[in-house]
Amino acid sequence: MTDPLVTAATEARERAFAPYSKFRVGAALEAEDGTVIAGCNVESASYGLTTCAERVAVFTGVARGFRCFKRVAIVADTAALTPPCGACRQILWEFAPDAEVILANLTGRTERFTVRELLPRGFDAKQLAREEY
Ligand code: THU
Repeated sequence: MTDPLVTAATEARERAFAPYSKFRVGAALEAEDGTVIAGCNVESASYGLTTCAERVAVFTGVARGFRCFKRVAIVADTAALTPPCGACRQILWEFAPDAEVILANLTGRTERFTVRELLPRGFDAKQLAREEY
């Protein structure tokens, strides 16, 4: 049976706005209370202002009042499963450091990682606090 989080990411992918790259991505986050928040990539004619599905999902979740996420599913139509880019790993680290990351494609193949595995020694608010050393 397909994980409902993967299904939510697959459905979000259908809403991607990717007229330039034609590369559609969906992401779905599971908040601590089980709420699912989805995002898709949204491209800009400027190219550089494009935002990935993962960040759209995290920012949507934060805007809806969630600050911490347990799992994230990322779906793209690729044989080699699509992992989050560096910028998205940073944002996931800040809002979901302990989260499980499920990569999936449209055939149902999945691979699982943790955010911590994908971004070891991530930068976050701890450094900004300039603790004594
Ligand atoms: N993209 C994502 O949305 N997430 C990823 O994990 C990789 C890349 C998007 C950004 C851009 O719209 C398109 O895929 C091609 O890079």
